[in-house]
Amino acid sequence: MSDNTLNLQNLGSASTLSRKLEDGISFVIFGASGDLTRRKLIPALYNLACGGLLPAKFSVFGFAVTPMDDDSFREQMRAGVQESKEAKPFDPKVWDAFAAGLHYVTADFVAPEGYQTLASRLEEAEKRAGRTGKRLFYLATPPSFMADIVARLGEHGLVTPTAAPGEGWSRVVLEKPFGRDLKSAIDLNASIHKVLQEDQIYRIDHYLGKETVQNILAFRFANSIIEPIWNRRYIDHVQITAGETLGVEHRGGYYEQAGCLRDMFQNHLLQLLATVAMDPPVRYGGSSVRDRKADVLHAIVPINPENLADIAVRGQYGPGHINGVDVPGYRQEDGVSPLSNTETFVALKLFVDNWRWADVPFYMRSGKRLPSKVTEINIQFKRVPHLFFQLGADDQMEANTLTIRIQPDEGIALRFCAKIPGPEMHLRQVQMNFSYTDSFQVEPSTAYETLLLDSMEGDPTLFNRADQVESAWTAIEPLIDIWSATGPFQPFPNYAAGTWGPSASDTLLARDGRAWKNSASTGVSSVVRVDSECPAIIAGGEAGKGA
Ligand SMILES: NC(=O)c1ccc[n+]([C@@H]2O[C@H](COP(=O)([O-])OP(=O)(O)OC[C@H]3O[C@@H](n4cnc5c(N)ncnc54)[C@H](OP(=O)(O)O)[C@@H]3O)[C@@H](O)[C@H]2O)c1
Repeated sequence: MSDNTLNLQNLGSASTLSRKLEDGISFVIFGASGDLTRRKLIPALYNLACGGLLPAKFSVFGFAVTPMDDDSFREQMRAGVQESKEAKPFDPKVWDAFAAGLHYVTADFVAPEGYQTLASRLEEAEKRAGRTGKRLFYLATPPSFMADIVARLGEHGLVTPTAAPGEGWSRVVLEKPFGRDLKSAIDLNASIHKVLQEDQIYRIDHYLGKETVQNILAFRFANSIIEPIWNRRYIDHVQITAGETLGVEHRGGYYEQAGCLRDMFQNHLLQLLATVAMDPPVRYGGSSVRDRKADVLHAIVPINPENLADIAVRGQYGPGHINGVDVPGYRQEDGVSPLSNTETFVALKLFVDNWRWADVPFYMRSGKRLPSKVTEINIQFKRVPHLFFQLGADDQMEANTLTIRIQPDEGIALRFCAKIPGPEMHLRQVQMNFSYTDSFQVEPSTAYETLLLDSMEGDPTLFNRADQVESAWTAIEPLIDIWSATGPFQPFPNYAAGTWGPSASDTLLARDGRAWKNSASTGVSSVVRVDSECPAIIAGGEAGKGA
């Protein structure tokens, strides 16, 4: 196309999306030569192009300090799409049309020249295409640059207040982490609010774009049998696990500054907790869903520094084996100090103080170099009040567990007791399974596709609001303060790569008579046989409380 913007709507397969994006959006990526752009953002945009989901006259402007022209940027991005496991099969026709709209501005984030160049290139493209500015700025940058970039966007008139429908608009997407503690998050919010209205700000947490996370809302609120039992009367406790088999790869420098608590809990795990625990919103969209999630985050019982040992565990991996391969310890990774005090594993017990959840523990754990790559939520229901079957030593029993698998094998499983066929009454655990791939015959779309579309459409439902981010920092702030104030943690490293974290993580639950569910996706069964001395329900080694 002569103006180097493109019309991709008729190129890909027909879209089933009912909504339609406005034409002529300029998508500006700060940090366009970085890892996120190449591995996630451009492949996601390419997938949207393949699906015919991008608006007409769509263009991308990359902005970063590595010198490149438009052609070399296109080459780099093409390699990224071809290498990506998440990108759809490479289609030269779609790629060529998409790549024609890719542009690049070589500039430093902190120098004014780049913003002047960007302004004139945007205006030129908008004038040629005969469109008003609909500009989405995506900050795929180190967090330390975010306030500065937003200030400069304001100074150079690149962003304007939200306009009336049909007119131009400007929005800014901010990558995580949003700040590195409560104070810096408050400061960053204050700083960007000097330039942008809250409804122009899209704080992204890609977990919220995952199909399975969105499906938690569908499962809970579109099925009448679920909601009546989703509370403290029927649920014994909730477990949230996000495990990775990988170490820090090439991101040792970043991880040394972040650690597991900041990298996973402040955002992903607390957002999963909020999605599981929220009350029903009035509608999907607007502020309704975000209001209900904010309620949960506000209701988290503050961590008491006095009983930290009873509710929080930190770990750091040493050398070990994963899938039969020897792997180094964290302190031996590139970019990591040999005396590093950074945690690569955290387990936490939190409570949500409201009518629905009072006294129900939420156990959460996340770590690197664990035995499985798995993100799942286990809802452990209470045991039946009275069991009248005469069970033998071979019967297997546990309380009902509902497992929501976020990744891999996205789906939902319910474990319940069933009678073993035969003349006598013997019971065993069985599992009812819903698999996304089997039921819908498609791979779930990547989270970034969903979230990029939402931000272009102006739907903030799956993005974090200022108050949500600050509440999440508030929830973990006491841990950050204490762990950073206590100096080097002597037992580090305290778990071998390829294990489920330090033993203290198991003790955290064992003290309450419970055990982690290392279920189907982790390859370890949590079912135990009924103790013949005690023919009542025992679950996953949780003989005792609640089970
Ligand atoms: N990578 C991921 O998987 C991932 C996942 C979730 C969130 N995030 C977040 O996304 C953001 C970006 O991550 P990333 O992994 O893409 O980082 P990265 O690979 O280090 O990329 C940083 C980008 O910023 C550019 N940059 C740095 N300083 C600059 C300056 N003074 N002027 C102009 N450009 C400058 C770099 O340009 P040059 O390369 O040209 O120096 C590069 O394009 C971070 O906030 C990260 O936490 C990343």
